[in-house]
Amino acid sequence: MRRIDYLVTGALGQLGRAVLAEAQRRGRHAVGVDVQEMPLESRAAVHAVVAGQRPGAVVHCGAITNVDGCEQEPLLAHRINGLATGWVAEAAAAAGAALVYVSTDFVFDGAQPGVPIAVDAPLRPLSVYGASKALGEVAVLAHGRPDFWVVRTSWVFGPGGRNFPRAILDRARSGQPLAVVTDQVGRPTMTHDLAEALLDVADLRPPGGIYHAANEGSCSWHQFAVDVLRESGLGHVAVAPQLAADLKRPAARPAWSVLDTSALAAVRGRPLPHYQDALRRHLQLDDGAAAPPPPTNGPLRGKEYT
Ligand SMILES: NC(=O)c1ccc[n+]([C@@H]2O[C@H](COP(=O)([O-])OP(=O)(O)OC[C@H]3O[C@@H](n4cnc5c(N)ncnc54)[C@H](OP(=O)(O)O)[C@@H]3O)[C@@H](O)[C@H]2O)c1
Repeated sequence: MRRIDYLVTGALGQLGRAVLAEAQRRGRHAVGVDVQEMPLESRAAVHAVVAGQRPGAVVHCGAITNVDGCEQEPLLAHRINGLATGWVAEAAAAAGAALVYVSTDFVFDGAQPGVPIAVDAPLRPLSVYGASKALGEVAVLAHGRPDFWVVRTSWVFGPGGRNFPRAILDRARSGQPLAVVTDQVGRPTMTHDLAEALLDVADLRPPGGIYHAANEGSCSWHQFAVDVLRESGLGHVAVAPQLAADLKRPAARPAWSVLDTSALAAVRGRPLPHYQDALRRHLQLDDGAAAPPPPTNGPLRGKEYT
């Protein structure tokens, strides 16, 4: 007998919280764990928690998501995002649990603009973060299990956290000048819609393997900032165009991140909603309270929007 339906790692993160809320909305029993309850540094802790909870499915959202920070700490990034994902996978296999591993568009180099990126496109990460998540994918898929799924997503935002729409609005409202990159194009994805898709995968049990989950539509970060301002009644605020190279960030990002989501849409019988619809729902739900400060309780704690 399964004790719980879902074990959600990264439960304090923006996506993990949405997955727990979605589980509750479905009337299902979910337990969330984060760094305190299941530190991904410890193989023993991972095994003990998964074996102890006996979940129907593990939804593995826990990760180091500080993309630029990973460039400075490549071993730690690979250990947590790659090796520890392997531990989660072996623990899930040992417990007979299904596994949904959340991965990223950053496993690709985005070198073929115009064509949505297929689930079986070759992995060519441009950054340590992307490489570490790709390692996690390999560790999951190596099991060859029909109930292990890698679900890649992109440009995640959601209510209640530090997110791109909030950052744009904070700057606009404080009168600071806004400049946002025009030469990176992707699919903004709302945590609520993504959480629904992840639990659909766990519940519908499509063939094991790779799926892409992202809101419909695509835009540049610049266009997304313009959308955020327009939908917030601040359409008069100017957003200067900027090139990614001018930002001189430590980690390179793909210029083209538009994931082909057709396989998951076929499984669910519908695509995720359009990102503009998701943005409107997000802006209604985001309470406007001050964004939480970046956590400082460990190496590479804290996240970025991209
Ligand atoms: N955000 C995006 O745009 C995006 C895009 C594509 C894919 N993804 C993937 O989506 C998943 C969820 O991302 P998110 O945006 O929700 O990120 P997030 O808000 O940073 O959540 C990740 C959670 O994992 C926790 N964590 C970090 N190191 C850990 C450790 N050693 N042991 C246990 N827990 C640890 C984090 O804790 P701390 O906050 O204390 O570090 C955080 O609570 C990740 O797998 C990420 O790679 C995200």
